[in-house]
Amino acid sequence: MDKLSIRGNGPLNGEVRISGAKNAALPVLAATLLTAGAVRIGNIPRLRDITTMVELLQTLGTQVEVAGRGELVTGTRHSHSVRAPYQLVKTMRASILVLGPLLARFGAAEVSLPGGCAIGSRPVNLHIQGLKAMGAAITIEDGYIKAHTTGLRGARIVFDLVSVTGTENLMMAATLASGTTVLENAAREPEIVDLANCLNAMGARIRNAGQATIVIEGVHELHGAQHRIIPDRIETGTFLVAAAATGGRVRLLDTAPALLDVVVDKLREAGATIRSGADWIEIDMQGRRARAVSVVTAPYPAFPTDMQAQFVALNAGAEGFATVKETIFENRFMHAQELQRMGADIELQGNTAIVRGIAKLRGAPVMATDLRASAGLVIAALAADGETLIDRIYHLDRGYESIETKLARLGADIRRVPGRTPSAQVHPARKIG
Ligand code: EPZ
Repeated sequence: MDKLSIRGNGPLNGEVRISGAKNAALPVLAATLLTAGAVRIGNIPRLRDITTMVELLQTLGTQVEVAGRGELVTGTRHSHSVRAPYQLVKTMRASILVLGPLLARFGAAEVSLPGGCAIGSRPVNLHIQGLKAMGAAITIEDGYIKAHTTGLRGARIVFDLVSVTGTENLMMAATLASGTTVLENAAREPEIVDLANCLNAMGARIRNAGQATIVIEGVHELHGAQHRIIPDRIETGTFLVAAAATGGRVRLLDTAPALLDVVVDKLREAGATIRSGADWIEIDMQGRRARAVSVVTAPYPAFPTDMQAQFVALNAGAEGFATVKETIFENRFMHAQELQRMGADIELQGNTAIVRGIAKLRGAPVMATDLRASAGLVIAALAADGETLIDRIYHLDRGYESIETKLARLGADIRRVPGRTPSAQVHPARKIG
């Protein structure tokens, strides 16, 4: 397995371009199952999760053509399967996003239960309950969600928990249902708005995406369209925190600062000077050490859970102490024990981490456990003295495009160490005779 070797090398300095949002591109790709028409999608990030989603769509019958860097054209004239197999779904939970589109377009779907992951049990009961309310017959057999319908119908669905992909799945399914669907207590993330904009360009009739109550009027069919994925607000936030943790000055281009208000406020509280325009944002720590800041994760527009690990890493080397409370996932502090190997003073009390900043973290061998935890380890390594070797960085490759290239451009001392494939067992030659 590849590793990342990072040596603390002083403040990051310079500018990088932000890629398209992984968590917008994944539902938009799934949405192309809803039409036989060609959907041209731009600003798609080059990530493992995207490759996995494309593979999944192709097994289902979608034609996918590369139309240029970060641009795909897809179309699903017919399905030659409605089965999303376990070996694909287990590598990427977001595969669940094909469930709603398959049901709406083809009246049937067999999607492997995604199972849990490092950060939590990640149930999909809300997806299933919502689709049942829209008239789908759904059973769970041999680890698969088996669903069929003679035609989805509009329904009023109230989420008892805010779910991002739950909202996305039901919104996609509702576009082809007969009648009107109302989603209450819906997720409000920018990626939901981006998906709704793409669906409306395809002929859907969705109102109030981005608010807690979304209204979808079903239509008979959807057509092809063009859409450009919004910038990745979590990649943006991750680079801002990396600059803050190293006392640097970094400008991020091709991004959308307006999607990061709470994160920007927290970084200002940590002592950063931040300026921004429509599609760029610049942080300047003026060489100063960050002050530790307390955060509580919650659904958008509150502080994003996907930025939690990055702020634990920032606080670990900051001045003072702070609390980081995780309210979304039940096990999202796996990075804490890895940071403790680097000298971090972190005490976990239930869903809260109490972090007392130390003057200098020390490089050490650590292990990535999930996507954003690995981003937190990278940030700590950039600020630490000495070398940090991060193992299992396939987690990182799922959600950050060319991260070592972008960080190196900012002056980081970072290189990918190819993992040694286990050498074939060389058996000692047997003496003959
Ligand atoms: C999306 O995951 C994101 N993934 C996650 O980003 C993100 O952390 C999460 O939303 C929260 O913002 C994608 O968009 C592909 P949820 P999702 O459904 O939709 C519970 C990353 O790092 N729940 O909003 O799976 C669930 O257990 C990833 O890019 C149910 O109980 O998250 C959790 O506690 C990690 N039943 C809470 O709701 C359900 O049916 C929020 O989960 C669904 C969810």
